[in-house]
This record gives sequence, structure tokens and C-alpha cells, in this order.
Amino acid sequence: MPKAELHIHIEGSLEPQRIFALAQRNGLTLPYADVEALRAAYAFEDLQSFLDIYYAGAGVLLKEADFFDMAWDYFQRAAADHVVHAELFFDPQTHTDRGVPIEAVIIGLHHACQRAHAELGISSRLILCFLRHLSEEAAMATLEQALPLRHHFVGVGLDSSERGHPPEKFARVFARCRELGLHVVAHAGEEGPPAYITSALDVLKVERIDHGVRCTEDPALVQRLARERVPLTVCPLSNLKLCVVPDLAAHNLPQLLDAGLCATVNSDDPAYFGGYINDNFLQTFEALPQLGARQAWQLARNSFEASFVPAAQKQAWMAQLDAVFAQAADAA
Ligand code: HPA
Ligand code: ZN
Repeated sequence: MPKAELHIHIEGSLEPQRIFALAQRNGLTLPYADVEALRAAYAFEDLQSFLDIYYAGAGVLLKEADFFDMAWDYFQRAAADHVVHAELFFDPQTHTDRGVPIEAVIIGLHHACQRAHAELGISSRLILCFLRHLSEEAAMATLEQALPLRHHFVGVGLDSSERGHPPEKFARVFARCRELGLHVVAHAGEEGPPAYITSALDVLKVERIDHGVRCTEDPALVQRLARERVPLTVCPLSNLKLCVVPDLAAHNLPQLLDAGLCATVNSDDPAYFGGYINDNFLQTFEALPQLGARQAWQLARNSFEASFVPAAQKQAWMAQLDAVFAQAADAA
């Protein structure tokens, strides 16, 4: 089924093999003996325990070619999963704070996006994320650094440690981004309370909510998200691995769809959470018998609706999706 992926941190697609290869290429020594030892450390109890390892893994990225290789690895996997459009989050502060020039980050990713289009037919966009555990001043400085490369990204997001870092901490920098004509999204309601979803909408004026699964704790908020058709980029395997849900059978994806929300399925940090986008679909559908072909179609359709591309492009992908389902129905 053709689909768009709208919630993928490109640094979260760095597989252990690639981490070791980049460490060797860059003359760095990792505190893990081998790929298996690193993978064994991927047992998370919450968002922070994951982020600590995720930022350490990203430490092997130094050169433009490293960013290119990472993203090209991702695009090849995305193509195998029938992803026709991907909106990639990247975390410049994770790299610039280590002395990596922001140009190396953005240009390396951009070249991978170009190759993905040319060789795999995948369309893509870049979304610059601010780290919410750092200050708003640091976010503003990062935005200013990135502005000469403004034509290479379409929007900004907000990620990293959610609890204790509410969206309103970034009110000014998001206002500036909106003035610049950038799309705006934010992680909210993953570990943080439903009130963070509300303030992401009201204060940051975001167009999509990343995760947002805790919205079901507030029925009025669910109604609002449905009424305003605010997309949620849900990541089931991430929710499982970060202990947001005890098991996939307890995931509220069916409730979100039943409430008429524009929910989508995405991989978040696939190298760390045990699967790419199709693994997220397959494992979630396996665990939840209420989910069937109708919901798969709806989720893929929602992913196109929620993407940051012109309406004509969305319509073309939706028609492609309908053709795939019509063909499958004929064959059945
Ligand atoms: N949540 C917050 N920050 C992140 C995530 C996430 O799931 N992945 C990478 N950075
Ligand atoms: Zn995320």
C-alpha cells in the first residue's frame, strides 16, 4: 500500500552496523564491544532512557557524507515499505553543539533526498526540530544559523524530553517560524499530559501533533482534534518500547480512528524501536483485531492528507491508494 511517513527522526534510523562503520571511518571509539553489545543496550524504560542512547549514537555523525549515508540507508528501507513520500525530522543542535557545521547536516540530508527522488521515486521534505530540553534562546540561535539554508527545509518541530518542557516555552521562536512561512509541528501528549497538546495548538499554533496519544484522557480535546482535523502522527512501536503502552493490544489507535481523527502510523526511531513503518502497521494490526483493511486504507489516506505537499499531489497519491485497494478487492 503506498503511504507517507510523517514522523521519522532521521538520527533514529541509524542502525548499529552503520554506527560502528561511521565510528571506524571517523576514528572514534564506542563504549560498546560490537553491534550485539550496542543492541543489547536498547532496553528502554521511558523517553529519557532512550534519548540518552539516541544522542550517544548520533555522536558518530561528523561529516556531510555521514548524514548522506544515514538518510540514504533510510530511503532504501522506506522504498521497500512502499513509502512514496517522507517528511524527515532532524535535530541540528545535537550536531552543532559538537562542532559539526549546520551546512554538513542539511546539505548531506538534502543530497540523500535528491537521490531518493531520482533513483527510488520517493518525494521528501526536511523538518528542523528544536530540542525542548534546551532553551528558547538556543532554538532561536539555531533557527538563525539555518536560515541561509531555508530553501532546504519546509518546517520546524519540537522534540526531546517532553515532561517539564511545555510547548509554551517555545512561543516566540515558533511565532518567528510562522512569520517566515515555515510549517509548524510539535511532539505533544506522548509522555506529557493532554494539556501540552492544547498548548501546542493554542500557543505554538501547530498544524500537526506528533504522537498525541494521550489525547484520549480528555474527551473534549478528542472532539476538538476531530472537528479541526488536526493530524496525529502516531508511532505504535515507539509507544511500546518507551513504555507509553504496556502492549500493542492496549494501544488506542482504534479509538483514535473511531473518533474520526486524522491519525497516521509512523516509525519514529526505527533503528531503536524494532521496526520500520510496515513493521509498525503489521505488528499493530496483528495485536488489534478491530483493525482491518478499511483502517489500513484510512491510515494511508490520512498520511497523504496530513503531508506538506500541494493538494494536487495529495489527490494523485490518494487515487493511487484507491487503485491498489480496488485491485485487491477484485482479486479477493
Ligand atoms: N520523542 C521525543 N523526542 C524524540 C523522539 C521521541 O519519540 N525521538 C527522537 N527524539
Ligand atoms: Zn518522535
